[in-house]
Amino acid sequence: MSIQSGGIGPDGIRFDGRVAIVTGAGNGLGRGYALELAARGAKVVVNDLGGGRDGRGASDAAETVVAEIRGRGGEAVADGANVTDPAQVAAMVERAHGLWGCIDVLINNAGILRDKSFAKMELEDFRSVVDVHLLGAANVTHAVWPIMRAQNYGRVLMTTSTSGVYGNFGQSNYGAAKAGLVGLMNVLHLEGIRNGIHVNAVAPTAATRMTSDILDETALARLNPDFVTPAALFLVSEQAPSRTVMLAGAGTYARLAIVESDGVFLPEGERTPEAVAARFAEIASLDRQHEIDAGLTHVDRILKRAADAAG
Ligand SMILES: NC(=O)c1ccc[n+]([C@@H]2O[C@H](COP(=O)([O-])OP(=O)(O)OC[C@H]3O[C@@H](n4cnc5c(N)ncnc54)[C@H](O)[C@@H]3O)[C@@H](O)[C@H]2O)c1
Repeated sequence: MSIQSGGIGPDGIRFDGRVAIVTGAGNGLGRGYALELAARGAKVVVNDLGGGRDGRGASDAAETVVAEIRGRGGEAVADGANVTDPAQVAAMVERAHGLWGCIDVLINNAGILRDKSFAKMELEDFRSVVDVHLLGAANVTHAVWPIMRAQNYGRVLMTTSTSGVYGNFGQSNYGAAKAGLVGLMNVLHLEGIRNGIHVNAVAPTAATRMTSDILDETALARLNPDFVTPAALFLVSEQAPSRTVMLAGAGTYARLAIVESDGVFLPEGERTPEAVAARFAEIASLDRQHEIDAGLTHVDRILKRAADAAG
């Protein structure tokens, strides 16, 4: 499998010869990613089933974006696969691979909202949201994974949210799915890196139909989705880091980190709920903190501390 040229030249970050799939690219953020990838030389699969904000219904949103890309001299195809359907996803990936011979970039962006407080939420709405965001991303990534491994090159971007990493009232389904995508990113980073596959996540804030009724007009004006696109494109470029979560919106670009406090070591015999309560302020303090690169690194840290204490 040949990896064609692409990358940074005097013209900046380019995707010439690269093939990209962007899910949910018929509207909002995904549309912007697809247009900019194509403008920078990528051949783009514009995936979208064209449903409403809650995922119901269908339209030709993907075709409209493809027409826009072609109108600007770019190369793209529309695909209406539902990301929750592994067979439709497999057909989309096979089609793109058959057409263009490689798949270098996948942006898992498709999403729906079914907000309600947990007390009022039907489990069906919980399941649907997790299905589209988390399982949808797993389905498409699983389909491109063998291709990227064989190429020894791939860039996968998950779309998480402040709702997942910090929480937002009324979004238990969405928050759970979005936090799950950070977990998926962490593991796929570890499993993909030896094959040149970099896996990152973006946590956008943008004025789209998803946010049109929860933010005021001044805020929406500052939150043009185009301001998120630079973060997404950097995170799927040749020079992308891996296992990075970037927050992007209103012109601010920041990195999100999960850290653990140094914690306290309680000697045997003192490991009681009362001791944990007495030391809770110290346990919770982030004065000394660690950003850990894998679950096993945490295990090493606590076992070393126990070994040091044992002398
Ligand atoms: N807008 C924000 O502020 C914000 C904040 C955090 C995260 N996000 C995330 O960014 C992504 C894009 O959101 P947006 O704001 O552009 O919303 P949007 O509704 O404009 O776009 C989402 C697109 O996904 C498509 N889609 C939904 N279900 C699909 C399915 N099963 N298969 C294929 N396509 C499907 C929709 O048809 C739609 O075109 C989502 O994952 C969303 O959760 C957005």
